[in-house]
Amino acid sequence: MDKHVSVLLEPSIEALDIHEDGVYVDLTLGRAGHSAEILKKLKSGHLYAFDLDERAIEQSRERLSGISENFTLIHASFASLKEELESRGVSKVDGILADLGVSSPQFDDGSRGFSYRFDAKLDMRMDTSQRLSAYEVVNGYDEMELCRVLRDYGEEQDARAIARNIVKARAKSPIVTTFDLVEIVKASKSPKVLAKKGHPAKQTFQALRIEVNGEATSLRQMLLDAPDMLKVGGRLAVITFMSLDDRTTKQRFHELSTIEGSRHGIVLRPEEMSKPRFSLLTRKPILPSEEELAENPRSASAKLRVLIKTAE
Ligand SMILES: C[S@@+](CC[C@H](N)C(=O)[O-])C[C@H]1O[C@@H](n2cnc3c(N)ncnc32)[C@H](O)[C@@H]1O
Repeated sequence: MDKHVSVLLEPSIEALDIHEDGVYVDLTLGRAGHSAEILKKLKSGHLYAFDLDERAIEQSRERLSGISENFTLIHASFASLKEELESRGVSKVDGILADLGVSSPQFDDGSRGFSYRFDAKLDMRMDTSQRLSAYEVVNGYDEMELCRVLRDYGEEQDARAIARNIVKARAKSPIVTTFDLVEIVKASKSPKVLAKKGHPAKQTFQALRIEVNGEATSLRQMLLDAPDMLKVGGRLAVITFMSLDDRTTKQRFHELSTIEGSRHGIVLRPEEMSKPRFSLLTRKPILPSEEELAENPRSASAKLRVLIKTAE
């Protein structure tokens, strides 16, 4: 079985405050690190777990079956959380966890084209049955669309130069591999920028991955649906690794946990104010401990935010 070291495992499980008879949802199964801990705490309860990646589903089934049979694995995007659960007769749950982004097996299997460290065909699909891959984005999007993806999802300073050079290069022949793309990115940056710490293609690869897998839209959709699916007392825990995802989560949680009308400086009479139905477990995000950082450097950018439903 491929390895993935789960991030913020203890604090996220603790934050979910698991009841043995509760219904829980892991939106990002991966290699079932979080799911296994949830399942261990359930007696008559049930776990529903989603992943876009068929391999994550196959490998986790084996791991979870060793604990109990109180689980259902769903090969679908968490953007369709509501429909998928309702079609299984579930409308309210006790806790929902999302550990966003890519798993180590996805990154470390060079053939999947997620990483600038390995030379492979440009791919980056979490769901390998989907049509859109990084190859289509890089070779098919027009210059403006490419620039938007790189800027919005990669916060890439050299987005315009990279988009221009991609379009120039592919006019001669298609850009096929991760290393072809790395060379184009490098050629688009000044020696001063190239001398900085960190891989020069990191933000380009992040941007393409988000675009290919529809990560930004799926997160927004999930943050619309998941809070309503919680029972009173239920919790939504979200672990992010990128400032973009953390910002989206923080804003949505803030919106849900503040009094309607108090947000935009509008003064309302008390009877016009609707009380928030949610509160935050902690105002600041929960971060990895020193020990976790030392053991797993990949946890460095992780942030956990938790929302609690206080009223229907
Ligand atoms: C960081 S890993 C989760 C690791 C997991 N918590 C563990 O401990 O093993 C993220 C997983 O979420 C999946 N994923 C990402 N976006 C998704 C989406 N929109 N719907 C379902 N799964 C998604 C990825 O395929 C990946 O397997």
